[in-house]
This record gives sequence, C-alpha cells and structure tokens, in this order.
Amino acid sequence: MDTIVLFNDVNVPVLGIGTFMISPEDTENSVYAALKEGYRMIDTANAYMNEEAVGKALARAVREGLVKREDVFVSTKIWPTLYENPRAVSDTLKRLGLDYVDLLFIHQPAGNFIAGYRQLEKAYREGRARSLGISNMHDKKLERLLAAAEIKPHVIQLEAHPYCTEDAIMDRLSAFGTRLMGWYPLGHGDPGLLAEPVFGRLGDKYHKSAAQIILRWHTQMGFITIPGSKNPEHIRSNFDIFDFALSDEEMEEIRKLAGTKKYYEPDNETEEKYASMHLSFEQD
Ligand SMILES: NC(=O)c1ccc[n+]([C@@H]2O[C@H](COP(=O)([O-])OP(=O)(O)OC[C@H]3O[C@@H](n4cnc5c(N)ncnc54)[C@H](OP(=O)(O)O)[C@@H]3O)[C@@H](O)[C@H]2O)c1
Repeated sequence: MDTIVLFNDVNVPVLGIGTFMISPEDTENSVYAALKEGYRMIDTANAYMNEEAVGKALARAVREGLVKREDVFVSTKIWPTLYENPRAVSDTLKRLGLDYVDLLFIHQPAGNFIAGYRQLEKAYREGRARSLGISNMHDKKLERLLAAAEIKPHVIQLEAHPYCTEDAIMDRLSAFGTRLMGWYPLGHGDPGLLAEPVFGRLGDKYHKSAAQIILRWHTQMGFITIPGSKNPEHIRSNFDIFDFALSDEEMEEIRKLAGTKKYYEPDNETEEKYASMHLSFEQD
C-alpha cells in the first residue's frame, strides 16, 4: 500500500475506508470487509455515531490475526459541542476501544474551535493522537486556527473530487506541509460525476470503472482518499487501483473539471449551528 509521510514522519496509507452515513451494523461489516481486503485506514467521527462499530470491527480483525492494531491507521473527529468538554478525547477513545488514534480532527469550524484544537494538542503530547487534523476550515477561521496552533495541523479534511480541488486553501497550507484528505471523493456517489465521459474513456483504456479512475486520480494528485461504501463489491474494487497509472496528459484532462462544482457550501450561520447540535450520546 502506498503511503504519504506527514511532516512529523507519521505514515498514512493513501487510501482508506470512509464511514459517513453508514449505520453501526453496516459499518462493522464494511470495516471488517475492508480490512480483509487489505485496507489499512479507517475514517470515522463522533457525529457518525459508529465509532463503537469501527472499534468492534478492528478488534475482531486483530483477534483473528488479520491485522495488528499498529498497522491500521484510524482517524476520528471531535464534534463542536464537545470542544470544551475535557472528556471529549477519552470518551472518543473509549467508544473506539483504543488507547490512541492515528489522526484526530476537530470536525467543524464552529463554536470554540480553538479550545477544541487545544484538546487535540494535549492528546498529541500525551501520545493519545499520533497526528492532528482540521476539517472544513477556511478563510478567517483557518487563519485564526493557524495563528493559535502550537502544533500545526498535519492533515486537513475538505471536500475534494475532480470538480473541486481546493487549490487556494492547499496553497496556503503548503507553508506547513499539511496534507489533504479529501471527503466526497466520489461526489458522495453522484451518478453525474461517475458518468463524466473522460472517466468512461480512461476506464475503457485501463479496464477500470469510473470510480477506480477517479480514486487513482486522487492518489496521483497526492490526496489521501477515503471512499465510503457498504457494498462489498465497491469496497473490493475501490482498493484495486494500484496496478495502473494515469499519464500526465490524462491527469491534466481530468483537471479541466476542477472548479465546476461543490456539493456542500455552508454559510457562517449554518456552520455555527453545529455548535449547538448535541449528539445523542452526550446525554448518557
Ligand atoms: N470532514 C467532513 O466533514 C466529512 C464530510 C463527509 C464525509 N467525510 C468522510 O469522507 C468519506 C467519504 O465521503 P462519502 O462516503 O460521504 O462519499 P463518497 O466516498 O464520495 O461516496 C460514497 C457513495 O458512493 C457510493 N460508492 C462507493 N464506491 C462506489 C463505486 N465503486 N461505484 C459506485 N458508487 C460507489 C457509495 O455507495 P455504496 O455504499 O453502495 O458503495 C456511497 O453512496 C466519508 O465516508 C467520511 O469518512 C468527512
């Protein structure tokens, strides 16, 4: 498996499995199937309500000797309502059944996200997070975060796919070496993206599906990519992208789609609502 080396020398597999909007039961099956297929990275979040399921699938794979814990890269995200809760990180680890995560994000630029990031920095210093991430940060909020961060973010999660490559934010972050982990890599399954003629043409050439061409493009762009799926055939084929390479001309051709569409563009007011959107387990 190809990896990307973060600026603190931590290795991240370039391809992992995403778990957004996947029920706990399906998550457990998908993550286990992915680990069996050879995936070594899993992305989850407090808000996906499936961290326990991720932990169970990983524990089963470790128990059965399929993987060692230290060979699997696990990322999760702290939700804004927990940014000022001192138990946020320990409760997250408890749900996952882990002593540490490989990458810990603050999920949204809402509420007291500086306090949230301070919790991440503390977890990093204590060895409970091997690297740190921010997600969905942009403009003034990104600048506030960067100015306050004692440990600069190793990774940023942003919407990224052939229609949207977030060049301006990544240019800004290149000063620190922060890497992009792209969410919605397949446009959240948008049939329009998958049907773009360029992917059909390249798919015919390389005997690959449109999704495989897109995921290969992500990895050749230098992005870490985390397609979500609960379909065993998709989980298998999404991982089967390392036996061919797109040429520079083909990468450029796909590049022409960039800047044409974003699926999610919240305004400040919508974004700030996350700071009061409590998760059901907070009542426990
Ligand atoms: N930081 C954030 O705010 C944020 C936001 C959104 C997502 N994320 C993370 O990013 C990950 C990826 O995003 P996502 O899962 O929403 O979107 P995605 O990976 O772009 O697309 C997932 C959708 O595509 C379908 N799909 C997967 N493989 C396919 C294939 N080979 N052919 C056709 N369809 C395929 C899936 O359906 P099947 O189940 O049928 O395969 C699912 O409906 C998430 O799972 C999550 O971990 C982070």
